[in-house]
Amino acid sequence: MAKMEVKTSLLDDMIGVGDMVLLEPLDEDSFINNLKKRFDHNEVYTYIGSVVISINPYRSLPIYTPEKVEEYRNRNFYELSPHIFALSDEAYRSLRDQDKDQCILITGESGAGKTEASKLVMSYVAAVCGKGAEVNQVKEQLLQSNPVLEAFGNAKTVRNDNSSRFGKYMDIEFDFKGDPLGGVISNYLLEKSRVVKQPRGERNFHIFYQILSGASEDFLCKLKLEQDFSRYNYLGLDSAKVNGVDDAANFRTVRNAMQIVGFMDHETQSVFEVVAAVLKLGNIEFKPESRVNGLDESKIKDKNELKEICELTGIDQSVLERAFSFRTVEAKQEKVSTTLNVAQAYYARDALAKNLYSRLFSWLVTRINESIKAQTKVRKKVMGVLDIYGFEIFEDNSFEQFIINYCNEKLQQIFIELTLKEEQEEYIREGIEWTHIEYFNNAIICDLIENNQTGILAMLDEECLRPGTVTDDTFLEKLNQVCATHQHFESRMSKCSRFLNDTTLPHSCFRIQHYAGKVMYQVEGFVDKNNDLLYRDLSQAMWKANHSLIKALFPEGNPAKINLKRPPTAGSQFKASVATLMKNLQTKNPNYIRCIKPNDKKAAHVFNDALVCHQIRYLGLLENVRVRRAGYAFRQAYEPCLERYKMLCKQTWPHWRGPARAGVEVLFNELEIPEEEFSFGRSKIFIRNPRTLFKLEDLRKQRLEDLATLIEKIYRGWKCRTRFLLMKKSQIVIASWYRRYAQQKKYQKIKSSAIIVQSYIRGWKARKLLRELKHQRRCNEAATIIAAYWHGTQVRREYRKFFRANAGRKIYEFTLQRLIQKYFLEMKNKMPSLSPIDKNWPARPYLFLDSTHKELKRIFHLWRCKKYRDQFTDQQKLIYEEKLEASELFKDKKALYPASVGQPFQGAYLEISKNPKYKKLKDAVDEKIIIAEVVNKINRANGKATSRIFLLTKNNVLLADQKSGNIKSEVPLGDVIKVSMSSQNDGFFAVHLKEGSGAAGKGDFLLSSDHLIEMATKLYRTTLSQTKQKLNIEISDEFLVQFRQDKVCVKFIQGSQKNGNIPTCKRKNNRLLEVAVP
Ligand SMILES: Nc1ncnc2c1ncn2[C@@H]1O[C@H](COP(=O)(O)OP(=O)(O)O)[C@@H](O)[C@H]1O
Ligand SMILES: [Mg+2]
Repeated sequence: MAKMEVKTSLLDDMIGVGDMVLLEPLDEDSFINNLKKRFDHNEVYTYIGSVVISINPYRSLPIYTPEKVEEYRNRNFYELSPHIFALSDEAYRSLRDQDKDQCILITGESGAGKTEASKLVMSYVAAVCGKGAEVNQVKEQLLQSNPVLEAFGNAKTVRNDNSSRFGKYMDIEFDFKGDPLGGVISNYLLEKSRVVKQPRGERNFHIFYQILSGASEDFLCKLKLEQDFSRYNYLGLDSAKVNGVDDAANFRTVRNAMQIVGFMDHETQSVFEVVAAVLKLGNIEFKPESRVNGLDESKIKDKNELKEICELTGIDQSVLERAFSFRTVEAKQEKVSTTLNVAQAYYARDALAKNLYSRLFSWLVTRINESIKAQTKVRKKVMGVLDIYGFEIFEDNSFEQFIINYCNEKLQQIFIELTLKEEQEEYIREGIEWTHIEYFNNAIICDLIENNQTGILAMLDEECLRPGTVTDDTFLEKLNQVCATHQHFESRMSKCSRFLNDTTLPHSCFRIQHYAGKVMYQVEGFVDKNNDLLYRDLSQAMWKANHSLIKALFPEGNPAKINLKRPPTAGSQFKASVATLMKNLQTKNPNYIRCIKPNDKKAAHVFNDALVCHQIRYLGLLENVRVRRAGYAFRQAYEPCLERYKMLCKQTWPHWRGPARAGVEVLFNELEIPEEEFSFGRSKIFIRNPRTLFKLEDLRKQRLEDLATLIEKIYRGWKCRTRFLLMKKSQIVIASWYRRYAQQKKYQKIKSSAIIVQSYIRGWKARKLLRELKHQRRCNEAATIIAAYWHGTQVRREYRKFFRANAGRKIYEFTLQRLIQKYFLEMKNKMPSLSPIDKNWPARPYLFLDSTHKELKRIFHLWRCKKYRDQFTDQQKLIYEEKLEASELFKDKKALYPASVGQPFQGAYLEISKNPKYKKLKDAVDEKIIIAEVVNKINRANGKATSRIFLLTKNNVLLADQKSGNIKSEVPLGDVIKVSMSSQNDGFFAVHLKEGSGAAGKGDFLLSSDHLIEMATKLYRTTLSQTKQKLNIEISDEFLVQFRQDKVCVKFIQGSQKNGNIPTCKRKNNRLLEVAVP
């Protein structure tokens, strides 16, 4: 896409009006108000058509930056807000592209900003014109010529701290490409009187102060100078220091600039020597001396200063001394020497100083020109920048002011001529009818000054050349005669009675009504200054100097070139150079910068209406606007006009295809602008009233707002749409990704399902195949078996006739025998151990041997038991018999039994024979004792137990006292009929006696023993062996016991734990004895 070019206009965002031709109503007040409004908004530039009005802001504004340069570069004049850069750009481009030589005319009062403006123009042109090492050097030299000339040619005045005291016109030369080649500087009339005398509050030229403050001590010593300003008579003391000006720094800048411009070291040195000499000349003082012949003579007071000057300049001291004392006049080959009085000597001294300095200045200009001269002979394009001293009105105005103001008058003249001419030319060019405009033409004032017969300058020259006594007064008299009737000339002495009583006009003065105001001139000094007389003795002394620069400055001092003709007067010289300048300017395309001073105080932000009003008046700015507006206030080429307003009409918006003029016609018709309001030129549209333009502007503004809304609307639509499309695109991407993902998942699922289904089907198929194969195999096997049987049957059927009918039985019996044989042989090896308690017995191998196998087991067991028994001794046999008896009696009947199985039956627990205590008892029992044991006899009355010895012999049961061994009871076994005991884990037992027997008188015994089982068993066996009767043993938890006459029930109760593990016995009542068994 091509870069969109933003077309702007001066009319955009303007403060007040940027171009005064648009002012409505057009009068002085609105003019000033507009300037003021713009000034207050830091807009110091305003146009009148192509003329730039510049108001000095007296402070640095940020509008001269490189960015600004870029902004204004290659832009049309009315495209941006008014600026000096716009004018510079216009001039430069028109020079480069249209081959038109340009001049930039900067006018305005002293201190209005002319010099600054000229520097801005030059720096702008330097910034935009070609680049490259060579070009840059040229630019640098051109720019650096400024500080040098300013140092020597500028001074502080009451109006301006940096006032140019000379006129300067600089031609910058360019090649066909617009690259700078070099330049030529012309200078006009330096105000040399300043060298010897400065008005109050002003200074001498900057360079004097700069040397004294900035030069090194060494250098000052070489120049025989001292730093102290007060040492020098030529330096005005009351304002030696200027606020904000650093003379020392400026001195360095100047030296640097001189070096860049191309001054050789020895040249710089010579220049400063001359400056020093001028300064020191002021210190030479004279005293009067009377001579014998009665003539006044003067003498130098202190020759020291003179000596130093001569050393500095290489002048013979006596020659100079003589030149200050004598004057030689040559007339008709005759030399007459007259002495100088003191006043004449001072005059001579000052004339020398002024001449030295002003010639030095001219030499500097020439020298700079030599450096910046274009090095080629090709045709050059030229841009001239004129920065001339501004119109000056002081309290005391002298010859200098007269000359300066004459020059300004001439510039105003050329301004009027050129603007009018240009305006007229434009109308003719554009084919528009020209209407005459009234304006003040200052040609008449110019004529008053420069007319060859009656002009003031001509008369001054006449006076100067006239033989006889000539004074300023005679000059004024002459003026009064010749100019009295002139409208712009005023004098007290004139024949015209108008000013006879005007006390503001002293007799020694005349007044001229300049275009810029009335100025009163003191005639004193006019003649001298115009003569610009330097005694020949002095110029010859200078020529004789052993100093090449000074020698060169005074060529007329060369006696070989003696010229008796008077040199042209200052006035006529100036008039001639101004005339040349004007001629030069007329050949160029003029560009005007009209500088205005907002106040007299050099202060920022102060806008003095009256002061500005005065300047506007004499600059004729209002007339300038009127001329510009003659008939038509505003004009614009068709293309930019159409470009700017095309949006106001449907046919021209957005594009107009035809020629621009036709487009503008259509546009203006459409907008119904009254026909008398505009005119069509050849290339421009002319608009009569600013009103119409503003209406167009308002319409445009309104339309722009609508368009902005439209653009905004379209942009928003576009933005939303692009966003929507983007989102849609994104959504599709997301959806596609998601779908892909979902499909992937689905596919994976289907795939795995398919694999499962497939595997099932394959499995099913494989199983089916396997089944079929198995079936097939079984079929094959079955077929084989059937075939085998069939073959067997066939074979048996075949062979039956060869076997006896019972062959099968034989085979069966044989087989059986073989099996039984095998069984026994195997059993032999598998026999279990001989231990009767071994339960192992091999498994049966054949079912048909089941009963045999069991029988074999029983037989084997009996056999191994017999084998076991055969090992026993008789005693062992007896013990086992007893144990066996006990088992039969009590096993599974009495709870006490299992505990007794492991206890061997000892019988005689109490060794009666060995214990002497029981000797009597032993003796009483002569039979074999089977049981001797201590038992508890239960007292029938209370259930309490008493220890008794229980003895069992072959025939009797005895109970004896445990302590004494006395027999308490003796019962023959035949009288014991029953033994009762509980089924529980206790040792209680009752011995029931036969009723009516001898022992039964006391009743049955209720005993308890630890060896109940053994005792009962032995009792039973002994009874059986003696009486051949089985003793009745009753096992019951409740039995009756005979106590004397009564029968008492002994009842066993389980569970009481009162006495630990010991069963307790308690008589409950007459009939019940309770035994608690734990
Ligand atoms: N454009 C400007 N911006 C800032 N200050 C300015 C500008 N123009 C002039 N001045 C100030 O005004 C002073 C006088 O300007 P100058 O150009 O020397 O006046 P002129 O040459 O017209 O006598 C300058 O020294 C400077 O301080
Ligand atoms: Mg100036």
